[in-house]
Amino acid sequence: MIARYSFGMLALLVFAGLPSAVAQERTATPAGPKEPTFTRDVLPIFQASCQGCHRSNTSAPMSLVTYEDARPWGRAIKQKVMAREMPPWFSNRSVGEYEDDPSLTDAEIATIAKWVDNGAPRGNLADAPPPVAWPSGGWRLGEPDLVLTSPPVQVSAVSGDAFPEVEVPTGLTEDRYLRSIEILPEHDPVVHHLVIFSVGGVGAAPAQAGDDPRCAGGAGCSKLANLAKGGSPDTFAEGTSRLLLKGSSIRFQYHLNSNGKSHVEHTKVGFRFYPKGYVPKNLIVAKAISSGVAALVIPPGVADYKSVFSMKVEREMTLVDFQPHMHYRGKRMTLDAILPSGQIQALSDIDRFTQHWQVNYVYKDPPTLPAGTVLRVTSYHDNSAANKLNPDPTAVVTWGERSVDEMAIAHIDYYETSPQTPKSRDRQ
Ligand code: HEC
Repeated sequence: MIARYSFGMLALLVFAGLPSAVAQERTATPAGPKEPTFTRDVLPIFQASCQGCHRSNTSAPMSLVTYEDARPWGRAIKQKVMAREMPPWFSNRSVGEYEDDPSLTDAEIATIAKWVDNGAPRGNLADAPPPVAWPSGGWRLGEPDLVLTSPPVQVSAVSGDAFPEVEVPTGLTEDRYLRSIEILPEHDPVVHHLVIFSVGGVGAAPAQAGDDPRCAGGAGCSKLANLAKGGSPDTFAEGTSRLLLKGSSIRFQYHLNSNGKSHVEHTKVGFRFYPKGYVPKNLIVAKAISSGVAALVIPPGVADYKSVFSMKVEREMTLVDFQPHMHYRGKRMTLDAILPSGQIQALSDIDRFTQHWQVNYVYKDPPTLPAGTVLRVTSYHDNSAANKLNPDPTAVVTWGERSVDEMAIAHIDYYETSPQTPKSRDRQ
């Protein structure tokens, strides 16, 4: 399956590679220890849920690898974990199970809070689990078959966020099925997130309903992968794939933030292919279920603006992941399957959405949905003054690209499970 925090799918595969002893220790003390120490109680939590991002040379502001690294941040850590702002994961924990879910249990939060309240004691060095061998730059999956480098984008030393968009031709002279996609930023700390799209190519399907609105009507344009802080490669399960067309290009949509230095960023994307001639059974399709432009007219001050929109499942499909997309006023998005029997299955409830983190939620047990199912999305926007991110609670807010405008899109990846020839279907 697709590993993520992309958020490919934003993959937090890093969290999956942990020693099993860590996982065991995390569940062994449900109530949390009375006198927690860093080495025995806190470090295992940091290894499992924080260090994927908080280590040297990443986009996170500080390392949480050693006691010396973490100790000065005690208060901030307690505050962020109690508010469930860290780790960045915004799902209602009672709905859906996801790959690489780094979120903390109540007992883990209590342990961290108590450790800070008790003066953040180090504890016995002998209690510490072995350090995690985090990758230190370079391709995690080994040298890719095809590496494309984004045209240069300038990151200013002073200005805030920037959203440049650049394109590079794949140079492919024949269609290739992808085995994995890996994104490698040159200056990790400044790439807040990045979405890559495949665009055009020989035989590309014309723009159609359900294409990603960010494609702006381009032929054969489809989201391929998504890198967020702490992200890791997307690997497609055996027999599943994405298709990269001959003559297609890759578009890089960046969200960059300044780290006080000026940089020229060239992010690399690495593709690994299935062998030539191999046709995977299941082709993964990216779709965007959108509220539509007309549905979003959010009056000033309204705290709970609700929109309901849907997509009908034409052929049996297996749903791989779900990534809600809204802007500053987005606060919640749910995804339900209304089965042909009328039964409603809650798939996801991202009830603390924040636009700062574009998390892709990858299902642990991808649900298979019969033809005739309706995928129903409900989005909620908060245009009141109580929403701390709201740039202007007196504005009537409508659909638009800028963060001060709004959107409501459910990005999904799926594959059809009925027999098919993926390539011909893709080109209909
Ligand atoms: C997916 C990556 C990621 C994970 C996982 C993560 N963090 Fe963070 N964290 C960040 C980034 C990036 C920032 C900087 C602020 C921002 O971009 O929101 C941050 C900010 C923070 C801050 C605020 C620092 C400041 O400047 O005041 C604290 C405290 C923190 N994280 C603690 C944690 C803890 C504790 C965990 C694990 C329980 C954790 N984080 C997991 C990426 C991550």
